[in-house]
Amino acid sequence: MTETVTITDNRTGKSVEIPIKDGGVDAKAFSKLLPGIWFFDPGFTATASTSSAITDLDGTNGILRYRGYPIEQLAEQSNFLEVCYLLLFGELPNADQLENWVHDITYHTFIHENMRKRFMEGFHHDAHPMGMLVSAIAALSTFYPEAKDIHDPESRYKQINRLISKVPTLAAMAYRASVGQPFVYPDNNLNYSENFLSMMWKVAEPSYEPNPVLAKALDTLLILHADHEQNCSTTTMRVVGSSHADPYSAAAAATSALYGPRHGGANEQVIHMLNDIGTYKNIEPFIESVKAGEGRLMGFGHRVYKAYDPRAAIVKKQADAVFDVTGRSPLLDIALKLEEIALNDEYFKSRNLYPNVDFYTGLIYQAMNIPMDMFTVMFTIGRMPGWLSHWQEMLEQEQRIARPRQLYIGPGERQYVPVENR
Ligand code: ACO
Repeated sequence: MTETVTITDNRTGKSVEIPIKDGGVDAKAFSKLLPGIWFFDPGFTATASTSSAITDLDGTNGILRYRGYPIEQLAEQSNFLEVCYLLLFGELPNADQLENWVHDITYHTFIHENMRKRFMEGFHHDAHPMGMLVSAIAALSTFYPEAKDIHDPESRYKQINRLISKVPTLAAMAYRASVGQPFVYPDNNLNYSENFLSMMWKVAEPSYEPNPVLAKALDTLLILHADHEQNCSTTTMRVVGSSHADPYSAAAAATSALYGPRHGGANEQVIHMLNDIGTYKNIEPFIESVKAGEGRLMGFGHRVYKAYDPRAAIVKKQADAVFDVTGRSPLLDIALKLEEIALNDEYFKSRNLYPNVDFYTGLIYQAMNIPMDMFTVMFTIGRMPGWLSHWQEMLEQEQRIARPRQLYIGPGERQYVPVENR
């Protein structure tokens, strides 16, 4: 079978035959045949903006792999920092590489005192932590002007390291500021997730002892969020990075993209939905209202997955472990019942609607006492290595600056009229 497509311009009868490579066809070949004619694809639903060797996602079969490793194996057997290394450098680290990597991350968690005293304390008392985080990540570029040297691999490594190590510090600082509590400095004796819990919850104890089950659950959630190929924020990272902006500015843009409720905010919507349902007896009427088109079952459905989101299955397992420690939330019972009904209902089955990763993550964060306006901040910590891996890959591919076309639909030429004559 020939692995090609043929496009014919019916105005001229000319054709072009284009090979299908890696599941795509090269748009340059279209352009030669059709100069000045653009492929209209708002939302990029049928456009591959890049090739990538980082994450393999097969939504039809519910498969997610980082650098070829199934997400289930990584969630169960690896840890977040090791997964960061894998995403960034393409291979699992050996023991020495891992030790150096963990050391480098652990010893870069502190931030400049000006950042805390002058910058973070300057926000209004009710500032949203995600707004603070977006600004703080952008502000980091002013502390590290050498970050502009994006073609120097050594400088790139340093900035990658700083972003992964400092974002939890900034995130916890944003939270503490939002609740009027003093900032807790990083504790280098703790691992990545434990240190984050310490910076969130430590009060007056000499050293914070995180609950190992909660620290493990957090680490797993970070792994699950670490990359998801070309979503809104990752593509933003690549687009901004393609202008050769420094990685802090590009990461701040990606964080802004994640801030939007259509991207990073779904788990918060799940909690609102479960609260609105409130009790068991309201579940059936709620499902009926969704089927009547009066709203959506939040945490269900996905643009790419048309099967059970493999991350949702892992999160569900973690939820059991977390609730054993924190006590069971009544909202969990509502969520489980909703899932059971939806999975057996023709409306959801015929549309391939299954729980996505956000169906249970909000419940876990809530059980850990992490407030709802921190959910997207948590997502940012997890997604940072994915953004940086794509940024690095984009630079290594020497990708041209992102510059899409548009179909102009406004008025034709008209003559300027002075204001007194309008
Ligand atoms: N509840 C009820 N019906 C739904 C849902 C849902 N959650 N999701 C899709 N549908 C229905 C649509 O009404 C549509 O029905 P129709 O064919 O009768 O018109 C059909 O399924 C297809 O829906 P689309 O909107 O075309 O699917 P799309 O791929 O554009 O949407 C999305 C994906 C946005 C995730 C959607 O499923 C949704 O809104 N889900 C709830 C929000 C959510 O959980 N978002 C988080 C996604 S995961 C993440 O971003 C990390």
